[in-house]
Amino acid sequence: MTAVELIERKRDGGTLTGNEIRWLIEAYTQGTVTDYQMSAMLMAVFIRGLNPEELTVWTEAMLTSGEVLELSGIPGHKIDKHSTGGVGDKISIPLAPMVGACGVKIPMMSGRGLGHTGGTLDKLETIPGFTTSFSADEFEKLLAEHGVVLGGQSEHLVPADRKLYALRDATGTVPALPLIASSIMSKKLAEDLDGLVLDVKFGSGAFMTDIDDARRLAETMVEIGSLRGTGVVALLTDMSQPLGREVGNASEIRESVETLRGEGPADITELTYALGAEMLMMGDAASSAEEARAMLAESVSSGRALDKFAEIITAQGGDASVLDDLDMLPIADNEDLITAHASGWVRRCDALSVGVGAMRLGAGRERKEDDIDPGVGVTIEARIGDRVEQGDVLGRVRWNDPYARGIAVPLITSAWELSDNPVESPQLIVERISRNT
Ligand code: URA
Repeated sequence: MTAVELIERKRDGGTLTGNEIRWLIEAYTQGTVTDYQMSAMLMAVFIRGLNPEELTVWTEAMLTSGEVLELSGIPGHKIDKHSTGGVGDKISIPLAPMVGACGVKIPMMSGRGLGHTGGTLDKLETIPGFTTSFSADEFEKLLAEHGVVLGGQSEHLVPADRKLYALRDATGTVPALPLIASSIMSKKLAEDLDGLVLDVKFGSGAFMTDIDDARRLAETMVEIGSLRGTGVVALLTDMSQPLGREVGNASEIRESVETLRGEGPADITELTYALGAEMLMMGDAASSAEEARAMLAESVSSGRALDKFAEIITAQGGDASVLDDLDMLPIADNEDLITAHASGWVRRCDALSVGVGAMRLGAGRERKEDDIDPGVGVTIEARIGDRVEQGDVLGRVRWNDPYARGIAVPLITSAWELSDNPVESPQLIVERISRNT
């Protein structure tokens, strides 16, 4: 087998056999297929796609390119949730303690922010002392003892994705449906899950801006899970405006704690409950969405969800007294206000402009090696559909670096557009996709 032969076949619209795909991924992971050959193959896949059989083998070959977790010795259903990424998306942070408090095991492996999308690990690491990097043994021990781990992806899990993702990033081949689906699903399936709930986003702040593309991605990932015998449910959710009020790192921890106290914004609460209900049903902890929602609500009102978060923080080396004193979290020194130039209804509060602006302030990374500034960010005071009067505050920008402020503030300001007529707020959860839908 030669790489050139396979590249030419895919380039010309042919299909690859299972053995060829397994060989290709293994040879690339080990370095015998070169970056330039794999770049050509990725572009051929970008243009020609993979059929369902090719995609299943491709995902499996990535999954088995390294270590996989072995969690069968830990009793109970292990369920994770994955979001395709967005602006202000801190849902994992209130979700994991709530669902964990209801008895489902959550071996959650999250990522870091890249580009305009934030990352759960960066947010969690603003809690003093909190660590997210564990060996497989440590990860399993934490899960067995506390039922929830909020960790990062180990280097040994799916090494093929690490190499392929970097190559895709440098060759314009990131937004290819089969490559995204296999990248996400290989990493999630390597967690030895019993079930996975996906939050697939669409809209300006999402990877897939178009709802039809997002739906196809969701359906593909549900199918990959089902072929491997892992239950997968996906919710298609709006990312045309930021999720919640806060976009940043420490500020999103504050908002997550408020949500765990039952005082979070309506959209964060709605999505956390919807995803949490799916997780509880998948984990056989509830038999209907109503029962699951009641359990989640009880975990909040009783304080058990917040106690669970305190337990997780302590177990992962953090200082849980932050939950009683949110002023321990970093905050930037300066704040600018963005105000309405006229009265009207908000018709646009663009997630991408806010996300890129927040990244420029230092809340996110342009390149993987960049550091983040934990205290900078944006507070959204007016959302799509809100009525505002001239002079009302639409948003607050917290900054440290004057140069970054000069670039970010105009960009963030451009996120808002007003209308003279009333505007409906967009529906947050648009569709549920499972094997039976
Ligand atoms: N997230 C991933 O993990 N992989 C992709 O390809 C895109 C988003």
